[in-house]
Amino acid sequence: MNAEAQKRVAAARAVEFVRPGMRLGLGTGSTAKHFVELVGERVRAGLDIIAVPTSETTRADAERYGIPLTTLDETPELDLTVDGADEIDPNLSLIKGGGGALLREKIVACASARMIVISDPSKLVATLGRFPLPVEVTPFGFTATRLAIEKAITAIQRPGPLSLRRGKDGHPFVTDGGHWIIDAALARIDDPKAMAHALSGIPGVMEHGLFVGIAQMAIIGGPDGIKIIERP
Ligand code: A5P
Repeated sequence: MNAEAQKRVAAARAVEFVRPGMRLGLGTGSTAKHFVELVGERVRAGLDIIAVPTSETTRADAERYGIPLTTLDETPELDLTVDGADEIDPNLSLIKGGGGALLREKIVACASARMIVISDPSKLVATLGRFPLPVEVTPFGFTATRLAIEKAITAIQRPGPLSLRRGKDGHPFVTDGGHWIIDAALARIDDPKAMAHALSGIPGVMEHGLFVGIAQMAIIGGPDGIKIIERP
């Protein structure tokens, strides 16, 4: 079973948590895409739900699959968000934002009564940080914000290279919100809560990719079946 099939199995299990009438948050990325497609199949078979996408890419997918969409302005409270992750630790703290959608993903997840993260086993780690931590920043004052991020990290732990994410054209990658992303290669994050708190205090930081205490459940699709992890 390849990684794509494992993601699909996890997504299919997550669809079982969707009930008629639910207000759903739809995640972003290659794993969440399976979920969106499977929800679309259920909608076409008559399932009545309404959903908020976490990115313009997911919006386009959801529209293509015929999923009725709303916004957090019309529907500010959601029942369930299902999304992927770049890393998942044993406490269900996550690194997200590899696809650049972390700000909307966090807003949508935090507006939801429940967040389920879906993935293949490659995302499970003992300690977060091998995947560079995405930090979404406003372009105004970029160098000052980058310096402030470096200082905040250094106050907590050993820092690592901070790089401005660039697109294939060499220009800074621009998020759906018009921001840039700094990827912080930290190797390990021993105290995700402290790191999240420190980064949140920097004015130019719009959001960071640490999701601490947000996901309640992880569904991991693996070669030997499905593993469900619930937050301790
Ligand atoms: C998007 O910004 C991310 O947070 C994704 O949810 C995360 O990168 C997982 O993506 P994949 O499912 O493609 O690995």
